[in-house]
Amino acid sequence: MATINRIGVIGCGQMGGGIAQVAAQSGYQVTMFDVSGSQLEKAMTGMEKSLTKLSEKGKLKGTVAEVIKRVRPVSQIEELGNCDFVIEAASENRELKLKLFGDLDRIVPKGAILCTNTSSISITEIARQTSRAEKVAGMHFMNPVPLMSLVEGIRGLATSNETFKIVREVAESMGKVFIEAKDAPGFVVNRVLLPFINEAFFALQEGLASPKDIDQAIRLGLNHPMGPFELADYVGLDVCLSVMEILHRDLGDSKYRPAPLLRKYVEAGWFGKKTGRGVYVY
Ligand code: 3HC
Repeated sequence: MATINRIGVIGCGQMGGGIAQVAAQSGYQVTMFDVSGSQLEKAMTGMEKSLTKLSEKGKLKGTVAEVIKRVRPVSQIEELGNCDFVIEAASENRELKLKLFGDLDRIVPKGAILCTNTSSISITEIARQTSRAEKVAGMHFMNPVPLMSLVEGIRGLATSNETFKIVREVAESMGKVFIEAKDAPGFVVNRVLLPFINEAFFALQEGLASPKDIDQAIRLGLNHPMGPFELADYVGLDVCLSVMEILHRDLGDSKYRPAPLLRKYVEAGWFGKKTGRGVYVY
């Protein structure tokens, strides 16, 4: 494989922090960029906690301190200038991602591969913001990144075979199972998951059962580790709404319309666990 040593991660929320962690666990030198210093601190604390858990269970190669040492938190995007491979995991906001890829193209060496962890935005459109569309791909991790074994790989229209091969190898070197999905809204996981969560909000809105009972029904009736509302609160209701809006707009089918109750919760700022309130209060 082309030698990838330095991985840059953009954004240090749940996804970015998790990606930076698994990259460092796998031996890469990681530069983790976020504009917010307090978010960077929070991400480093979360990483230490997660690594300690994994270490206690004998699931960590090396010590927590050795892994942490491989992560350099930075608040200037220019610091990504020596990376061979960048994974963008900023907020799921189209304009923001398009701008970031234009910036990255100027900052990161021409030979470097640029990936996005978008869960729903077109890889082809993101790649167009750069002068190296053949070196841009989608790399969609699942939350919580340190525990979930899947990465969806997505080729944009111009992604080269060589780039995609390296993306697969990097994902596998992080211990992940890689599947290839087409560059279509939601790829595979969110195309199936989000309408499922959205339907649970319609069911709640119609008074079919209480949130607890709907979650219980799915956990016990389908053997899912979490019910749809527990998972929605965990992923973020704002993220769920944003993915539904993209499915609805880009696939043009009314079956993807966001449930009004989901929209209402987001309007109220009830984004889930991260804001202390979603369907449940934390
Ligand atoms: N790092 C290390 N350890 C962690 C951790 C992390 N980030 N998160 C949880 N753990 C540990 C817990 O501390 C706990 O350890 P313990 O047994 O020693 O106490 C252990 O994992 C189990 O956790 P919990 O007891 O809290 O709960 P669960 O047994 O339910 O496991 C879970 C947690 C793995 C998150 C499980 O509930 C699960 O698989 N849920 C479904 C997650 C899922 O569907 N993710 C995909 C979301 S979709 C997505 O990400 C796409 C996006 O684009 C929207």
